[in-house]
Amino acid sequence: MRLCLAHFPSASAAFERDVCTSNLELRARRRATAAAIAFESPGPRDGRQPPLAASLPRYTQHTLSPSSQFATRTMSSLWSFVQEQPTAAAYAALAFIIWIAYKIASRPINYVKELSCVGFDPTLESGSAGRWKGKSRSELATEMSRMRKLGNLPPAFPNGWFALLESDTLAKNRVMHVAALGENFAVFRGESGEVYVLDAYCPHLGANMAVGGCVKGESLECPFHAWRFGGKDGQCVAIPYAEKVPEFAKARRWHSVEVNSFIFVWYHAQNEEPTWKLSALPQLAPSQWVYRGRSEFYISAHIQEIPENGADVAHLNAIHGPSLLAGGTLSTSGFLAGGSWARHLWTATWAAQTGPNEGHKAILSLVHEFRLFSKFAMIKMNVNAVQIGPGYVELSVDTTFGKAVILQSVTPVGPLLQRVIHRMYAAPSMPAPFANMIMLGEAIMFKRDIIVWNHKKFEDRPLLVREDKAINRYRRWYSQFYSENSPRLGKSPDGLDW
Ligand code: FES
Ligand SMILES: [Fe+2]
Repeated sequence: MRLCLAHFPSASAAFERDVCTSNLELRARRRATAAAIAFESPGPRDGRQPPLAASLPRYTQHTLSPSSQFATRTMSSLWSFVQEQPTAAAYAALAFIIWIAYKIASRPINYVKELSCVGFDPTLESGSAGRWKGKSRSELATEMSRMRKLGNLPPAFPNGWFALLESDTLAKNRVMHVAALGENFAVFRGESGEVYVLDAYCPHLGANMAVGGCVKGESLECPFHAWRFGGKDGQCVAIPYAEKVPEFAKARRWHSVEVNSFIFVWYHAQNEEPTWKLSALPQLAPSQWVYRGRSEFYISAHIQEIPENGADVAHLNAIHGPSLLAGGTLSTSGFLAGGSWARHLWTATWAAQTGPNEGHKAILSLVHEFRLFSKFAMIKMNVNAVQIGPGYVELSVDTTFGKAVILQSVTPVGPLLQRVIHRMYAAPSMPAPFANMIMLGEAIMFKRDIIVWNHKKFEDRPLLVREDKAINRYRRWYSQFYSENSPRLGKSPDGLDW
C-alpha cells in the first residue's frame, strides 16, 4: 500500500527530517570509513611514500582516454624493449628511418620553375659589380629580353595538337581559362566527364565565359547575360530573356581530345580539320603504370627551338655530358661537374618518319651511359623519343631497373614564351626512388637547355658542319607545320604587335 504524505503534512515533515538526518549520517559514516581505508591501505606503516599510481586519486585514472592508455602502455613496452635488447632496438630504429626515407623518396615529384628561375642569375652576368647589382632575377630577365636579338623567326604558331591543360587539373562541372597560341580558350568538363573547348569570348557581347561562367550539364553558361552554349558544337541552346534562340547564335568550338593525361586542342591557321589523331598509350590505362611526377617550365624561345634539341645531337655531350651532380648549370668546371671521373655519354640518331600517316612524326633514338673514371658504365638507358607534331613527344625509357614513359608537351603561351610540361609514368617493377631520380635528372638536364634557349637568337642560316646535317633535315620536316596564314611575330592576323 502506498501512502501519499501530502495528505499528512505533519507526518511528511517528520519523515523528511528523519530521511535527511539519516542521509547526513550515512554520508558522514562513509567519509569516515573512506578516510580510515585511505589511511591504512597505501602502507605508510614503513614510512615510505606510496607508489605514484596507487597514490593517484581514482578519478584521475578513470579520466585517461583509451587511446592515451594505449599510448602509455606502448611507450612503456617500447622502453622496456630498448632497455632489455638495445642492439635489436637500434636495428629497428635504423629500419624505421630507412622506411621513412624510402617513402619520402617515393613521392611523385612536382618540379615547377618560372621563366626567371632558370638562366637569369645577376651574380653571373658580366658587370655584376655594377649594372646588375641588387637586381632581382625577374628584373634581369626583363632587361635581358629587351636587349636580346631575336633573329629571323619562323611563324609564331605551328599547326597541330597542343596541350592546354593536364587532365587532373579540370574537375567535372568546372571551366578554366587558358591563353595560348594567340587565342583565349574556355576549357570545361561537363556533367558526363567529357571535355569541351570553346572560344572564351561570348559571341553576344564578348564576355570571357571562362571567368565567372558556369557549366550546366554539357553546356557553358556565360556570366554576363546567361546565354548557354553546347560544348559539342558551340550552338547557343538558351537565352533566358529571348522568345527564340536564333540559329546563328554560336560560340566558336575548337577540336579537342583528352588523351594520355593531357587535354589537347587542335590549332590550324587555315582552320583546317585535324590531319592526324593522337592515340592513347596502353601503359597509361587504369591500373597499369604508376604516375611518378611532373615538371613544368616556362621558356623564352620560339617553339621550333625546343624539339630541334633532338636533331642537334652534338649538343648532348657538350651540355649534358657534365655530371648531374653539378645541377642545372652550364658549368663544366669543378669537382661536381665530374671532369674526368664522372661523365654522361650520349649517342643519338634523329629521323623523320615517312610512312603513310606518319609524316607528322620523327624519332630520336638515344643511348645514355653514366661512366665513372672513363671505365665503369653505371646507369645505362635507352630512350626512344617519338615527336608527334610540333608540340608533343612520347619518350620511352628503358633502364636496368625497368621501363618508364615520359610525356612532353610544348605549348606556345605567346610567340616567344613556351610552357613545357613533362609527366612520367613507370612500370610497377621500377623502384619508385629510381623513377624519381630519372624524373629529377631529366629536369636538371632540361634546365641546361633552357639556359641556352632563354638567351639565344634564332639562327635561320646556321653555320653547320657535316655532322650537324640532322638539323637541316629537322627544319625541313618542321616546316610542314606552318601554312600560309600562320601568324608571324609583329604581323598577327588582328594587326597587333607582340
Ligand atoms: S556577353 Fe555572354 S551572354 Fe551576353
Ligand atoms: Fe638538350
